[in-house]
Amino acid sequence: MKRITVEASVRYDVLIGSGLLKETGRLCKSVDLGQKVMVITDDNVMPLYFDTVKTQLETSGYEVFSFMITNGEGSKSTDNHIKIVNCLAQNHFSREDTLIALGGGVVGDLCGFCAATYLRGIRFVQIPTTLLAAVDSSVGGKTAVNLQAGKNLLGAFWQPSLVICDPDCLKTLPKQILADGFAEVIKYGAIWDLQLFKMVENGNFDIDSVIARCVEIKRDIVGKDEFDNGLRQVLNFGHTIGHAIEACSNFEISHGSAVAIGMVIVERAFYKQGVCDIDCVNRLEEILKKFSLPVSCKFSADEISSVALGDKKCGNEDIKLVAVEQIGSCEIRKLRLESLKSFIESGLER
Ligand code: GLY
Repeated sequence: MKRITVEASVRYDVLIGSGLLKETGRLCKSVDLGQKVMVITDDNVMPLYFDTVKTQLETSGYEVFSFMITNGEGSKSTDNHIKIVNCLAQNHFSREDTLIALGGGVVGDLCGFCAATYLRGIRFVQIPTTLLAAVDSSVGGKTAVNLQAGKNLLGAFWQPSLVICDPDCLKTLPKQILADGFAEVIKYGAIWDLQLFKMVENGNFDIDSVIARCVEIKRDIVGKDEFDNGLRQVLNFGHTIGHAIEACSNFEISHGSAVAIGMVIVERAFYKQGVCDIDCVNRLEEILKKFSLPVSCKFSADEISSVALGDKKCGNEDIKLVAVEQIGSCEIRKLRLESLKSFIESGLER
């Protein structure tokens, strides 16, 4: 088992190892989680892993409650947030008790936001079951639900008390959901770690080490900028445009696929401004295609920019975008809001 300790407002361990799901109870006992736990999960994950986790927790003496949501982005809603916190209240959950997110990014973000807001904050544990959640959303304490106006607009920074990542869970993932996670892995390589990028490019890796490396990168970044005031924004490479593409498609394009397209659009546009060379764009496109991720979409610059301008990462005059100057290093660049449409246009044109 690999243990990576995140030093943020809360200090917590990310445990990565095959078979850890079957030790959930014992691992939870190693941190102080009270007596009652409520496991939040979805209808995909429930039949696969809930019984194992429940039995484990009960064997370790926890009283276990559960709340199941429908899988998919639509469930990251204010509606579900209210239902879950009401369920906690009806079952007399106190500040001593704990929420557990068993699932992917939607479950983790929603559960984390419930933990952040119920009784002004209770503890929660992340048990990611997708690659995307393992390498990104389960670590770092960004929790949120979506509003009509956009993704993650109602949220809080609230760190988990523990993250238990069992890569065996990835074995049951549909190919496209696994690919979504690789979009984030490729992002880490592109912005931060040439070695990681090369490993994934050559197909020469074991997944436990890839997850661990991504979590180490995230630990280093979050440790320096937990509240997203500067450095952490590098993790948004491709995300501002990606979120807009997700919304344009009414969330039919998944997060990972949209981020893949977003990274390529941004990188090609920066190439045309002379910020990076064509090799960077080509390598990025090739590696994404290798993982069956899309690199283009049918939406126009007008459609994408209108939605992107509503993104919370926009200031009043500028938008911040991440440019990979060479694979493995990046910088945050500001773009005038009025230039965004033509920037996206140049990124869409081959
Ligand atoms: N997923 C981006 C971040 O955690 O900052």
